[in-house]
Amino acid sequence: MTSKPDPAERAARIRHMFGQIAPRYDLANRLMTAGLDLTWRREAVRGLHLPPGARVLDLGCGTGDLAREVMRQMPKVQVVAADFTLPMLLLGRQRAFPHPPAWCAADALALPFATGSFDALVCAFLLRNVADLPQALREIARVLRPGGQIAILETTHPIPHPLRPLRDVLMFKMIPWIGGMLTGKREAYEYLAHSSATFLSAPQLAAALETVGFSEVRFVYKMMGTIAIHWGHT
Ligand SMILES: C[S@@+](CC[C@H](N)C(=O)[O-])C[C@H]1O[C@@H](n2cnc3c(N)ncnc32)[C@H](O)[C@@H]1O
Repeated sequence: MTSKPDPAERAARIRHMFGQIAPRYDLANRLMTAGLDLTWRREAVRGLHLPPGARVLDLGCGTGDLAREVMRQMPKVQVVAADFTLPMLLLGRQRAFPHPPAWCAADALALPFATGSFDALVCAFLLRNVADLPQALREIARVLRPGGQIAILETTHPIPHPLRPLRDVLMFKMIPWIGGMLTGKREAYEYLAHSSATFLSAPQLAAALETVGFSEVRFVYKMMGTIAIHWGHT
């Protein structure tokens, strides 16, 4: 009988893995998606409508690619970039931004922010990694003010697609190979493929968001139905 991994142990493993791949993480993203990840971030942020001075949290920010896109599209908003892997945050601090975000070490399952303190929350490729998804979604809803907005970019349980054989080669062979070559940690990119295949479908994630209080949740698929962007508001 296999026992369920302890959430704290799982979180420690995830943090260790992202710490190890942090130095080449952004480069691996660009190469694995042929730069498309940048266009998905752009589209995710375009779905937000925020006034100058709005407060935005980029949760699971990594080195801050999504935070940078928020600032690029909305130069007058204030961005907090939070992650629980210190090497990611430290690398992010060395990168160029229109103006630096407020970097913050934080666990998505117990956010160190007051209830209702943000106007919007963005996250990219975070949710399939968290040890307790319902708890992360509750925290996301909690830190947003009433009427607060979300934009979530995430891999999704793949939908049926005519190019499925090509997609499977890409996910299960090419991405682990490229990721392994660049970072020396092939297992991290095998984890990416497998955790995506076993994550919620886009409609299931939409339903989970509605369960914690989000309304008008909508989503679009990208990359042959392996990626989804969700938007909604509290
Ligand atoms: C795949 S990376 C995505 C980074 C960035 N958002 C991007 O778009 O490239 C996932 C990030 O989520 C972070 N993460 C995973 N679980 C977390 C948690 N429970 N709390 C905070 N950050 C977490 C990892 O440390 C990692 O930096």
